[in-house]
Amino acid sequence: MDRFTYRDGQLYCEDVNLDTLAVEFGTPLYVYSQRTLEHHYDALSAAFADLNPLICYSIKSCGNVNLLKVLADRGSGMDVVSGGELFRAIRAGVNPAKIVYAGVGKTDVEIKYALGQGLGTFNIESEAEFENIAHIAHKMQATANAALRINPDVDPRTHAKTTTGKKESKFGVDIERAKRFFERYGRDAHLKLNAIHLHIGSPVYSVDPYADAIEKALTLIDELRGMGYEVNTIDIGGGFGADYTTDQSPSYATYAEQIVPMLRPFVEAGGKIILEPGRTIAANAGVLLSRVQYIKTGGAKKFVILDTGMNHLIRPAMYESFHFIWPTNVAPAHEPAARLEAMPNEGLEPADIVGPICETGDRFAKDRPLPPVARGDLMAIFGAGAYGMVMASNYNAMPRPAEVLVNGSEAHLIRRRETYDDIIAAEVNLESPASL
Ligand SMILES: Cc1ncc(COP(=O)(O)O)c(C=O)c1O
Repeated sequence: MDRFTYRDGQLYCEDVNLDTLAVEFGTPLYVYSQRTLEHHYDALSAAFADLNPLICYSIKSCGNVNLLKVLADRGSGMDVVSGGELFRAIRAGVNPAKIVYAGVGKTDVEIKYALGQGLGTFNIESEAEFENIAHIAHKMQATANAALRINPDVDPRTHAKTTTGKKESKFGVDIERAKRFFERYGRDAHLKLNAIHLHIGSPVYSVDPYADAIEKALTLIDELRGMGYEVNTIDIGGGFGADYTTDQSPSYATYAEQIVPMLRPFVEAGGKIILEPGRTIAANAGVLLSRVQYIKTGGAKKFVILDTGMNHLIRPAMYESFHFIWPTNVAPAHEPAARLEAMPNEGLEPADIVGPICETGDRFAKDRPLPPVARGDLMAIFGAGAYGMVMASNYNAMPRPAEVLVNGSEAHLIRRRETYDDIIAAEVNLESPASL
């Protein structure tokens, strides 16, 4: 479900016409729907309510501080993977005790910063990392909780580049090493190892891989408890699907139906559950608006050339991902009844939708059937809320887009468009050696 809908052939975000936003704020432009964001957070919480989980929204998916505030206001904790994301969460007013911090390469500077802020839990990715964090915590006379990220060796059946829970991935510690890990580190006074963390991949469109991983985690926890270790929390990570095409993803109820009964006994015995959703909350809450710059033919092909590309939304180039792309103004016959790879509407013509970047891979779609489009038309790239702006770059020295948050009939600029000055702002000026 999302709040991007066509009314009389014009695309709206909630009650705001997207063409008016493009005129007011320019393109390319990320536009987010606050009600969609809230709906996804609330619906996921409701589906898992029996477990009373702490939902730690995964900042890496979409991290504008204003969006984080919307979720923090609803009680969300945050999942961070760097000092910078922790900074964002704290700026958004999130209680540090509700923040979990994963990532295989945490630096000493980041660890000290997190300990100084009173971070809730470090998700530990290796023996060496545990030793380092415990050492720093000891020196600072600080304490924190730690969750051992286990690698359950399950196949989430998703893209190879976003598979994280298989043996060959760099994430977590092989499940066979977990007991030894607790034997070595399970009694540390400063870094209290009392939780198990999993994150198997993203997006995971079937529930079975979660069930397999959770089953392995629960067996492990029984064994660890039998060995005398306290394990009071299971963090099952993120990875829940999003609808890049209509109804692509299982409903939250479908995920919960299988997962909740597995975890209920753990919760009834006093255990805590953490979820780390990102994509499922943010993806359908955002579109990337772009103006058609040129229409070009090459051989038998038609190219629709946009003013945005892989510099602003890298998913198609990086993961061959599908994004539904459609003009914001269409004839009634071309209003999309659903967002599909093969649209049933009459009168569509295939085109490659490409960006301005000097890379052949800068292509959003190949031979995509589209309604008629002309230079100057506005196109919406749907499902761009997650892993969109957060992965945007200044490649080809192009400024990053502005971001706008819509709530009902109001639209607020939440990040201004970058300028050329912004692009070189951090570069050292060799003509002024004194500043070196
Ligand atoms: C440890 C961890 N937790 C949560 C997430 C969020 O995943 P998603 O956005 O698919 O929910 C990720 C994403 O890769 C992750 O690495």
